[in-house]
Amino acid sequence: MPDSPRTTAAITSVGTYLPPDRLTNADLEKMVDTNDEWIRSRTGISERRILRDPDKATAFMATEAARQCLDKAGVAPDQVDCILVATVTPDMLFPATACLVQDALGATKAWGYDISAACSGFLFALTTGAKLVESGMHQRVLVIGADTMSRIVDYTDRATCVIFGDGAGAVLLEAATDGTGLLDAVHHVDGTGAGSLRQPGGGSMRPATHETVDARLHYLKQDGRAVFKRAVVGMAEAAAEIMERNDLAPDDIRYLVPHQANLRIIEATARRMGLGADKVMVNIEHYGNTTAATLPLCLGDWEGQLRAGDNLVLAAFGGGFTWGATWLKWAYDGSE
Ligand code: UT7
Repeated sequence: MPDSPRTTAAITSVGTYLPPDRLTNADLEKMVDTNDEWIRSRTGISERRILRDPDKATAFMATEAARQCLDKAGVAPDQVDCILVATVTPDMLFPATACLVQDALGATKAWGYDISAACSGFLFALTTGAKLVESGMHQRVLVIGADTMSRIVDYTDRATCVIFGDGAGAVLLEAATDGTGLLDAVHHVDGTGAGSLRQPGGGSMRPATHETVDARLHYLKQDGRAVFKRAVVGMAEAAAEIMERNDLAPDDIRYLVPHQANLRIIEATARRMGLGADKVMVNIEHYGNTTAATLPLCLGDWEGQLRAGDNLVLAAFGGGFTWGATWLKWAYDGSE
């Protein structure tokens, strides 16, 4: 008897949301001691999007991205089985942002939860969602990466405030048996890096008090150099590992979809994989580092150019430390 085809989880639709307000390098020059030349040469960033409306936060952006994703697929919210939201900027510590999105969407039959893995959050959530589909447990899983970094960035700290932006992206996962979908993934964490990138205040170790706020502990803190050193190796090695163990040559890969933390880290990863710039999705110039949203925002921007069967390697590195790479065979022809 011939083997029955392997069931995989394929991305069948993408939706994105970017807040309309832009924060340019020129704007930042007026806020801290920095300049456009430094920011562009050290990071590749020219501007980022900022969610200014104080009554809106991550769940709003996640819902907008999810709604667009479902509309494009012609799938009603009540056909969604599970919602996974990767974020480090939930609307509140609890309930989970996934619950707020479920309610706002009207996804009455869905369950879900948040995944906290910083800039690797979308990659980790994608694997989790894929397993729910591959196992036959669910037919449709929404995987969302969304972060409102502007709410935890210290706009007096020039070393971090120039980097981050806000945004959200969502993908729909459905079963496939044609060889497309998520085919392999490598994931790592190393908690020895926990001190290098974190939001120290507001958790159970240092609950919010006047003292923690006065000490600015509710803001994101990063040792940029330490993170850079690990990220440049981690992202490149994970991407290379995915290629090697699946016999993928540079010519087999249509695009590297890298986390957008720093153009220099992206270029080092592409070099390690043997890929030219034409095979690398880069939009950091316009959005900065949107943490869990960078990968689905790339997929949204490049969707029109993707064709069924294209091999993509997704790679990310973030706080934790967390990092990894995923081999994804794209499932449908995009329309320009
Ligand atoms: O996405 C999650 C994971 N995060 C990352 O992957 C980020 C990894 N790290 C980085 O991307 C880089 O380390 C940064 C972009 C954060 C910083 O770039 P760098 O080349 O590592 O700069 P640095 O921190 O080594 O600082 C170099 C100099 C310092 O001055 P001195 O000590 O050499 O006099 C900083 O004070 O640049 C100074 N500096 C700035 N100057 C102008 C730091 N920030 C700024 C700024 N404008 N915004």
